[in-house]
Amino acid sequence: MPILDVHNLSKIYEGKVSTHALNHIRFAVEKGEFVGIMGPSGSGKTTLLNVIGTIDEPTSGEVMINGRNPQSLDRKDKALFRRKELGFVFQHFNLLDTLTVEENIVLPLTLAGVSVPEIEDRLHEVVNRLGIGGLLPKRTYEISGGQMQRVAIARAVIHRPALILADEPTGSLDSRTAAEVMSLLAEVNGAEGTTVLMVTHDAVAASFCHRVIFIKDGRFHSEMYRGSSRSAFFQNIIDMLSLLGGAGHDLSAVRL
Ligand SMILES: Nc1ncnc2c1ncn2[C@@H]1O[C@H](COP(=O)(O)OP(=O)(O)OP(=O)(O)O)[C@@H](O)[C@H]1O
Ligand SMILES: [Mg+2]
Repeated sequence: MPILDVHNLSKIYEGKVSTHALNHIRFAVEKGEFVGIMGPSGSGKTTLLNVIGTIDEPTSGEVMINGRNPQSLDRKDKALFRRKELGFVFQHFNLLDTLTVEENIVLPLTLAGVSVPEIEDRLHEVVNRLGIGGLLPKRTYEISGGQMQRVAIARAVIHRPALILADEPTGSLDSRTAAEVMSLLAEVNGAEGTTVLMVTHDAVAASFCHRVIFIKDGRFHSEMYRGSSRSAFFQNIIDMLSLLGGAGHDLSAVRL
């Protein structure tokens, strides 16, 4: 059974002009995979991630996560499901600046009512793995962007979710820091077998994935597997992006 099964998903935003943001998209992700989602601007990537993450509702179709359809749950159970099964990483980190780094990281466990000794065990483990021990007492405005994203990743994994959803996690970082953050995500994926689904414009970031799914106009367009060479994969991704057209072609660095 795949950990994530996206089945015939459609999303129409109604308005003066209605937008078919997702159009019968379907794909599955196996446990332990690291999958990238790419496509031109406006192709539905964020919508897809928001529907999978139960932040938004589909118009039709369904998403199964770990064999369950969270959209069928009531509000309260949906929130519980999200907290237990999912971890989120965002472009702008979304850390709480009234809390210390340590408080930010353990927040998912605090909310879940996990015991203090268990919280300390998990914190110790994740902090060692991600090399962020020195940051714990700091406030989020006292650390760099790359450090903030490490902290956000720690927060996303500390409750051992079934699936991590990342939307442009390197979008606010310079290229060297972006590569470091990607190595870290790849390590979290490799070491714990945590499944990661990541939206990105950045072909370098995408080249860390096992597989990249390309979407266009809300539809599945094609997919590509990495194989043994990351540099060959990178080149293939660049070629596919130029074929797809739109603003998908790594304009993120130029968009300043
Ligand atoms: N809340 C909304 N209401 C109405 N239309 C929306 C809403 N959110 C997104 N859309 C539209 O749905 C389509 C898909 O948007 P989405 O944000 O998913 O694209 P994206 O692939 O993430 O783009 P980008 O690469 O620029 O982040 C676009 O046409 C967008 O204008
Ligand atoms: Mg987006």
